[in-house]
Amino acid sequence: MENLNDIQKRILELKKQKNALILAHYYVPLEVQDVADYVCDSYAMATKAMQAPQDLIVICGVRFMGESAKILSPHKKVLIPAIDAGCPMADMVSVEDVLRLKALHPDAAVMCYVNSSAAVKAVSDICCTSSSALRVARSIDKDEIIFVPDIHLAEYVAEKVPEKKFILHNGFCPTHHRVTENDILAAKKAHPEAAVAVHPECRKEVIRHADFVGSTAEIIDFARKTDAPEIIIGTEMEIAARLQRELPHKKIYSVTSAFVCPNMKKVTLEALLSCLENEEFEITLDEAEAAAAREALDRMVRC
Ligand code: 13P
Ligand code: SF4
Repeated sequence: MENLNDIQKRILELKKQKNALILAHYYVPLEVQDVADYVCDSYAMATKAMQAPQDLIVICGVRFMGESAKILSPHKKVLIPAIDAGCPMADMVSVEDVLRLKALHPDAAVMCYVNSSAAVKAVSDICCTSSSALRVARSIDKDEIIFVPDIHLAEYVAEKVPEKKFILHNGFCPTHHRVTENDILAAKKAHPEAAVAVHPECRKEVIRHADFVGSTAEIIDFARKTDAPEIIIGTEMEIAARLQRELPHKKIYSVTSAFVCPNMKKVTLEALLSCLENEEFEITLDEAEAAAAREALDRMVRC
């Protein structure tokens, strides 16, 4: 337990004592990532929780990540450290929005980004994450796909899967949407030799300038493997910080210093300690809704 502070040591003791599994998303503070069993993208978070032998799962991320873990592992106790850590994009689509789109396009399948509520997943045919979106879209046996809620991920997928017709919704991630083409051009001008890796939640004008587009885990993998000695990271800043620590021989830059998800930053060490001590905040879901949402998530995992 060298180099760990007192809170981190206490968290690890409690984790052992309670036989808990801690999964952290790459956007939560590095000091929280450092006490996790696994640091994951949203796909791995949901599946690792399901595969793990532990019955107590702590999801260091935003609420929809806790919900996905609970949906796939209904008999486990799933906790999130920050009760108010939501995802604004997930709140941009409602069940009524999906039902209205279904009524307008009765022959279309509904593909739902995991950044959505359990209720929205329950009225969708199949879920996807940013790492599985292309695979999921290609696996759908219908020609038309209603994609909710992220318009930017939907546009990215639509361009890569031209054989399908996509019906888009107008949701977006405020953190990624805020980054403009001028920001990426300015970063490239400042670091002309750097490779550029961005998340598909970015606007298409930003994605256009990228050498690599992928989920958080895929961006990290790209940064590790590329021969480029400098890399501009087009996603939440914690990834750039993590990569700079891990790859000190490379120069890692964030597209802008405004690339912060405020909700992920609510998952502090103090919140995680309190979560383990008090076994709160537990994710509970309506059973029928969770069962319907499970079908959509299961289809993603199987495809
Ligand atoms: P990943 O699937 O890449 O982890 O992304 C989740 C997310 O919320 C990105 O903003
Ligand atoms: Fe939601 Fe954006 Fe934060 Fe990801 S970065 S959790 S999409 S608000």
